[in-house]
Amino acid sequence: MAKPIKTTEQTEVSEAQIAVHWKEEAYYQPSEKFKGQANLRDPHVFDRFGLDKFPDCFREYADMLTWFEPYRTVLDTSDAPFWKWFAGGKINASYNCVDRQLAKYRNKSAFIFVPEPEAERDVVITYQELYDRVNEVAALLRGVGLKAGDRVTCHMPMVPELPITMLACARLGVVHSQVFGGFSGQACGSRIQDSGSRVLITMDSYWRNGTLVDHKANADIAVRAANELGQDVDKVLVWQRYPGKYSAKTPMVSGRDFFVNDLLKEHTGKKVEPVALPSEAPLFLMYSSGTTGKPKGAQHGIAGYLSYVTATSKWILDIHPEDVYWCMADIGWITGHSYIVYGPLANAATSVLYEGVPTFPDAGRPWRIAERLGVNIFHTAPTAIRMLRKLGPQEPRKYQYHFKSMTTVGEPIEPEAWRWYYDEVGKREAVITDTWWMTETGGFLGTTVPAIHAMKPGSCGPAAPGIHPIIYDETGAEVPKGSGKAGNMCIRNPWPGIMQTIWGDRDRYVKTYFAKYNRNPRSKDWRDWPFLCGDGAVQAADGYYRILGRIDDVINVAGHRLGTKEIESACLTVPEIAEAAVVPVQDELKGRVPEVYVALKPGVPPSQAVIDRVVKANEEVIGKIARPKHVYIVPDMPKTRSGKIMRRVLAAISNRRDVGDVTTLANPDVVEQIRVMVQGKGTQTTQEALPEDIAKFGQVE
Ligand code: WTA
Repeated sequence: MAKPIKTTEQTEVSEAQIAVHWKEEAYYQPSEKFKGQANLRDPHVFDRFGLDKFPDCFREYADMLTWFEPYRTVLDTSDAPFWKWFAGGKINASYNCVDRQLAKYRNKSAFIFVPEPEAERDVVITYQELYDRVNEVAALLRGVGLKAGDRVTCHMPMVPELPITMLACARLGVVHSQVFGGFSGQACGSRIQDSGSRVLITMDSYWRNGTLVDHKANADIAVRAANELGQDVDKVLVWQRYPGKYSAKTPMVSGRDFFVNDLLKEHTGKKVEPVALPSEAPLFLMYSSGTTGKPKGAQHGIAGYLSYVTATSKWILDIHPEDVYWCMADIGWITGHSYIVYGPLANAATSVLYEGVPTFPDAGRPWRIAERLGVNIFHTAPTAIRMLRKLGPQEPRKYQYHFKSMTTVGEPIEPEAWRWYYDEVGKREAVITDTWWMTETGGFLGTTVPAIHAMKPGSCGPAAPGIHPIIYDETGAEVPKGSGKAGNMCIRNPWPGIMQTIWGDRDRYVKTYFAKYNRNPRSKDWRDWPFLCGDGAVQAADGYYRILGRIDDVINVAGHRLGTKEIESACLTVPEIAEAAVVPVQDELKGRVPEVYVALKPGVPPSQAVIDRVVKANEEVIGKIARPKHVYIVPDMPKTRSGKIMRRVLAAISNRRDVGDVTTLANPDVVEQIRVMVQGKGTQTTQEALPEDIAKFGQVE
């Protein structure tokens, strides 16, 4: 007989349970060589950034930027928890990333673009060329009537035209909202609507896994979807993957669609003065998944955000202007914004931009690129590490590159994958920083400082300077380090990189990130507003944090955040579907993948065709990344007596775990039917404890 699951057991996973997956790991030390050259080696930095020095300690970050007018207040809390960093100052992000580098680094490469087809040549863009191109595009955008405060949606692939467009927007104070290129046209359309963009910037095509994708088709869908939601798009600006040639089949719409390359002819050689903008003016929106189906636009402001990514690129990524830095993330996600574009450029880095799939045409590709370009700082996600390890465990040995530093981001990394990264990819020479953070936080939170702290596989480390985490239990009591208990990871203090608000939804911002542990909703004291990150974590006795995954209904698929409500509403667009429930399942390569359960409307017979339509609906409404691993047609959903779908039970079935006590459900018999459908007749359950994010799944309603 299954043991009833008590809620307390799910919120406080004991160290013993977690140890089933994770044992305490040994430390790895950074080499003397690395320490000798690192930007940040002074351990006293943690005294300088102690909570008693907050917020003035962050003046050091602001000093890394060039200001048009100095700021007056480090942190203005008058509208708590809507923090205003470096209030009263005037600044421009494009100026800081481009113009100010010209004096010293005019002829140095800012970007090296590596196209996916291996026979195609790299495109090197120097800081001077970047300056020229950003100015021309800024002139073009101004020419179509865009000005500070307007929003523009970009739906672009990994090409240099994307950062050029972003920096041109930033030059004018136009707020860019880049939607991940792999998202569907419909997903793009709902983000256009939410942000109120009248201009969409896209590209005709791009290479992905050996195929030249017709991306312009998505723009037409996006404009239609936005229009149906009540937002008109006046202009679609289309970059050409091969300038001068149209590489998509979808026709251009006359009067609405324009080739950027054609329009640019009128702006050759033009210069646009960077606009001196208030510190707290918004720089960009980045849409992200949350507990409800509605995507939320995390709004980041200029000065706070830029100072934070500049400082962490320098201190944590250890970028020097002489380094060749390669982050394999997509610019369409926050990692790309912070650590391909803004942070590295503000540090005058040379940043590699790769168009395609890491394993194309084979698992040696990243190492060939690293060898050829002399990359010495490498940054990627666990899902890519697992994939490269699976397909080419020995490949790195064949290439003569040397990394001094490597980063992992986006998901928890298993110690085994970590060790392959360290031994094989890093050749035991490179330090690894496991950087834990999220869209909302702008930059790294939990991490080691690579020249100061030892590494510990599977733990992100303590925290970046000036970040003061705390783990709270459900009652708001602090979970002490070394207690072996898991809880909700929070940050006690604001920091410059934190988002400003959710675009157009102040209440949702307060509710999602602060309501749970706020001590007084009227307080103007930052101490009353700890930030709820949305992850579960355990802190070991040595102070290192181990991140256990999301505690809300967000599934982290290969490092991409997908809201379960988004997936479920996509399923419900199929007319035959009455109800849908999605659950995360563990996956060897992608970390988690969604599995979908659907119940059909009365009289509709189950068929493969319906399953195919559900898969297609997910691809169309969200994108290929949301493709479910399985779609199960069930006779009924397991429900409570009040009619709530028990996703927790479905998650247990999908993950081959004991379903617990289901006798209180309205329809307990259906659980066994579903179990047999998914697992077969015999029991296939394992006794291993479920990972925290899956164990907690389905409890936030
Ligand atoms: C997860 C990506 C463990 C976490 C920067 C977080 C991680 C979510 C790590 C944010 C890490 C990110 N170790 N988990 N080093 N980094 N995560 O917004 O669950 O796309 O809440 O930002 O990814 O995803 P997002």
